[in-house]
Amino acid sequence: MKRNVLITGTSTGVGFESAILFAKNNFKVYATMRNLDKAKKLKEQIENDNLDIHLLPLDVTKTETIKAAVDTIIKNDGKIDVLYNNAGAGFAKTTEQASEAEIKWVTDVNYLGVVYCTQAVLPHMRKQKSGQIISITSVGGLVGQPFNELYCGAKFAVEGFMEGLATYVSDPFNINITCLEPGGISTEFMTSAIDKTTTEGQFATGEYAPIFEQYMAGNQQRAKESTTQVYQTGLEVAQVALDVAQNENPPLRIRTSQWAEDFTNLKTKVDPDGTKLISQVRASFL
Ligand SMILES: NC(=O)c1ccc[n+]([C@@H]2O[C@H](COP(=O)([O-])OP(=O)(O)OC[C@H]3O[C@@H](n4cnc5c(N)ncnc54)[C@H](OP(=O)(O)O)[C@@H]3O)[C@@H](O)[C@H]2O)c1
Repeated sequence: MKRNVLITGTSTGVGFESAILFAKNNFKVYATMRNLDKAKKLKEQIENDNLDIHLLPLDVTKTETIKAAVDTIIKNDGKIDVLYNNAGAGFAKTTEQASEAEIKWVTDVNYLGVVYCTQAVLPHMRKQKSGQIISITSVGGLVGQPFNELYCGAKFAVEGFMEGLATYVSDPFNINITCLEPGGISTEFMTSAIDKTTTEGQFATGEYAPIFEQYMAGNQQRAKESTTQVYQTGLEVAQVALDVAQNENPPLRIRTSQWAEDFTNLKTKVDPDGTKLISQVRASFL
């Protein structure tokens, strides 16, 4: 029987590319999205290439939709092999100027969504004594960046959550845990973040405005100077996710580009894939 995978956030970007790539590489794919009206492009691909992709509604902030999707998969296949937490959303604003609703939203989508989806699949993977959970975090899950502290905080939280889980579900339950850590990816991400974050066209006002402008100018300059080094495509990230899903002994963490590796080097050089850390924590506690 083929391995199956539940992927969150497959309407665009990395999730969309991953659904297609995994299906072309012998996975039965449950491609989920919060709004199935956005599935037109994926449906066309499924028909054109006759792909083993099944669409399901799932909003990572709504636990009832997660439960329904997982129940459907278990009813169809009696198992769930891979959970791939891809859904996420950017947010750039000063903490001082973010509303309570925005703070809750950025945390729900980027962190609690991962927790809820993971919680829903764990009982099945534990019973199966096999499974894999892959979460896309970011270089922002390792290195805090200006005006991104709320997004980075949520991604750091995912890193901590995954790390803690990895210490006791890999052995004895044979559930592998991996964080994918990309740098920039050329997807809808920035446009969506800008739509979501700006208030009357402004990210940051008052005394923060000139610092924010400096930050944006730096970003634009870096993008112009080295687009190919900084940004990778959604398909390139999807390929790293596929490699991890096909690896019998996957790493706890992996950067998805050389730029991401270099950018996070101060945090990762001692133990790039997390193997030493997991051994040390297990030796201390278990
Ligand atoms: N792009 C980058 O520069 C970058 C860098 C590092 C890490 N990442 C991470 O990479 C992952 C993929 O992002 P991407 O670049 O492919 O961006 P993207 O094109 O904006 O895709 C994000 C996906 O997440 C979905 N999503 C948002 N809120 C959701 C919710 N409540 N429930 C379910 N799905 C939801 C979106 O669905 P809708 O279409 O319905 O909004 C979309 O399908 C994210 O975790 C992101 O944080 C991105």
